[in-house]
Amino acid sequence: MATVTFDHVWKRYGDVVAVSDLNLDIRDEEFLVLVGPSGCGKTTSLRMIAGLEEVTEGTLRIGDRVVNDLAPKDRDVAMVFQSYALYPHMSVRDNLSFGLKLRKVPKPEIERRVQEAAKILDLGNLLDRKPKQLSGGQRQRVALGRAIVREPAVFLMDEPLSNLDAKLRAQTRAQILRLHQRLATTFVYVTHDQIEAMTMGSRIAVMSAGLLQQVGSPQELYDHPVNKFVAGFIGSPAMNFIDMTATRRDGSVSLSNPTFTFAVPDRLRDAVLAMSGDKVTVGIRPEHLELGDAKPGDATLRATADVVEYLGDEEQIHLTAGEQEIIALISSSARVRPGDVLDLRVSMDRLHLFDDANGLSLASRQLAAA
Ligand SMILES: Nc1ncnc2c1ncn2[C@@H]1O[C@H](COP(=O)(O)OP(=O)(O)OP(=O)(O)O)[C@@H](O)[C@H]1O
Ligand SMILES: [Mg+2]
Repeated sequence: MATVTFDHVWKRYGDVVAVSDLNLDIRDEEFLVLVGPSGCGKTTSLRMIAGLEEVTEGTLRIGDRVVNDLAPKDRDVAMVFQSYALYPHMSVRDNLSFGLKLRKVPKPEIERRVQEAAKILDLGNLLDRKPKQLSGGQRQRVALGRAIVREPAVFLMDEPLSNLDAKLRAQTRAQILRLHQRLATTFVYVTHDQIEAMTMGSRIAVMSAGLLQQVGSPQELYDHPVNKFVAGFIGSPAMNFIDMTATRRDGSVSLSNPTFTFAVPDRLRDAVLAMSGDKVTVGIRPEHLELGDAKPGDATLRATADVVEYLGDEEQIHLTAGEQEIIALISSSARVRPGDVLDLRVSMDRLHLFDDANGLSLASRQLAAA
């Protein structure tokens, strides 16, 4: 059993609250990605699992065992750091086996595990080299190998790809996922890169300023972000946000600002009517804006193309409408030119609404009430 459970966990450094009342159940054998902007508490959370940081308050469990006061070496976890932290004077083979020797693992067993890790990571012909004779990607594979030979119950990885170039990142990303499938072990993976999170995670936990915002599958976070932070953080290019005012009249409600007017989707009407304030942010993903004739019930936005970035099959179009800036992803076949005035439409199903008073999605309020 290699679940990891944060139960009301806090981490304070003096006055700094690095992690605030974290409740998170990491499931056995899942690939959980902790993601969020710099300083949000990802590394601190991971290091608490590893035992490299003390838990200030709350309970941390690995499996059924409370580990708050357990030494790192007794936790059955292995951590891979961003800086590979290899021993420079040791060969790859010795880097892989060193931790096991310290743990007095019998020699034949060490040899078996080193061979196995070398095979998985394709390090067989590099075993006698020193780290400085390796490329960045090869060093990172050795760092992964050093974790694998431990055969831990939980792998902890802190931005392990950030020192690699784009191509190697993509390759190593796939390699780590293969590793996860093959080892069928719990992985907790930290990154600030939402694309990495989306492509790798079986579930994603989004943090901001020490607070867990939402946990869910990539698709849940993309389709149903609970608040404006998650909505803006997940998805690329980022969701467009438009500030609107809700006008309620005789039980009906509309949203407007000096540039646009939107009807409120039926499914969200009650939530807008129940708001205490009248300020709403409308969220629209760039890939949900389309050209062409509106269908009944679509919202439309008229805006002027400003910059067109060609991406191959798609174009990323920067538009302005009054004070508002909008980004749309449109098929290149539309051949949009700077200066074109476009009528962009979006299906009502795809509008996200957020209450400005607290940033919460009005859709999640609807769910809570149901
Ligand atoms: N030893 C420490 N003493 C005081 N404050 C610390 C210490 N370690 C971390 N912090 C603070 O705790 C907060 C969370 O830090 P953490 O390293 O967990 O962030 P992170 O999400 O991993 O960020 P990054 O993406 O930059 O690595 C930050 O505000 C940081 O300044
Ligand atoms: Mg960090």
